[in-house]
Amino acid sequence: DEGAVLQPRPAVVTVMGHVDHGKTSLLDVLRKTSVAAKEAGGITQHLGAFVVEMTSGASITFLDTPGHAAFSAMRARGAAVTDIVVLVVAADDGVMPQTLEAMSHAQSAKVPIVVAINKCDKPSADPERIRIQLGSEGLHLEDLGGDVQVVEVSAKTKHGLDKLEEALLLQAELMDLKARIDGPSQAYVVEARLDRGRGPLATAIVKSGTLLCGQYIVVGSEWGRIRSIRDMLGRETTSGRPAMPVEIEGLKGLPMAGDDVVVVASEERARMLSSGRKKKLEKDRLLKASEGRI
Ligand code: GTP
Ligand code: NA
Ligand code: MG
Repeated sequence: DEGAVLQPRPAVVTVMGHVDHGKTSLLDVLRKTSVAAKEAGGITQHLGAFVVEMTSGASITFLDTPGHAAFSAMRARGAAVTDIVVLVVAADDGVMPQTLEAMSHAQSAKVPIVVAINKCDKPSADPERIRIQLGSEGLHLEDLGGDVQVVEVSAKTKHGLDKLEEALLLQAELMDLKARIDGPSQAYVVEARLDRGRGPLATAIVKSGTLLCGQYIVVGSEWGRIRSIRDMLGRETTSGRPAMPVEIEGLKGLPMAGDDVVVVASEERARMLSSGRKKKLEKDRLLKASEGRI
């Protein structure tokens, strides 16, 4: 839009890779807590989002994704809302089906990849083998003259984590990420859940503009009026700034990960847009069902 003022914004980085290759563990080290241990059975069920302030002072918004085969759609959505994909490959296990799947999601969304070869502390680790595997899958690694950065890390010993930070900040710098701060907000849902007391809650990444309490929004096919916006530490904030994950309260129904957040002028507009989208979803569903019968 004309005359819009663009300001630098943090990068949104999505961590992807095969199940158990250490995505959540790496993020835990970056955010210096221990969520992995608390996750049910150690498997990431949801797309978590949080901001990490790097030692350089710059901040990066990270999205975690599950590596289990069943969560392909979640990885596709993760790739779609992100600036950079960190492709985690365990140095002992090597390139596996969900490694390749994550790679192809990133490539089809035209998102640059930074490779983190993890578990390099293990005696059976073979980072050279991983490089060869990735190269033969068509990834142009920088060691071989390509533009994909590769870092060897260990979430266990924390080895190489500073290098990973550097690689991400360098990649972000190359991309010169900017966003419009003022005006109507565009955002994407990365996670939604129903809270007993607070109702439907959507975690969203703001892409541009500023979200404000009191605004009417349409999220996917749901609508609502923003009652509160909280940051990832649960603190109330009056706005959601670009690349910052926020939790939005005030929706009438539960949206889905990947839904867009649209700000509209009035309750009437919100209801209309929502019911239009619901009708279209229902029509598509019926069409699909009837095709299934033919
Ligand atoms: P999903 O979310 O289920 O796909 O797994 P994930 O990729 O998030 O892996 P997670 O962080 O849950 O780690 C899986 C297992 O690998 C855990 O037992 C971790 O302790 C272990 N692990 C992770 N990183 C390292 C590492 O650098 N070295 C060693 N030795 N073990 C690691
Ligand atoms: Na796991
Ligand atoms: Mg995980």
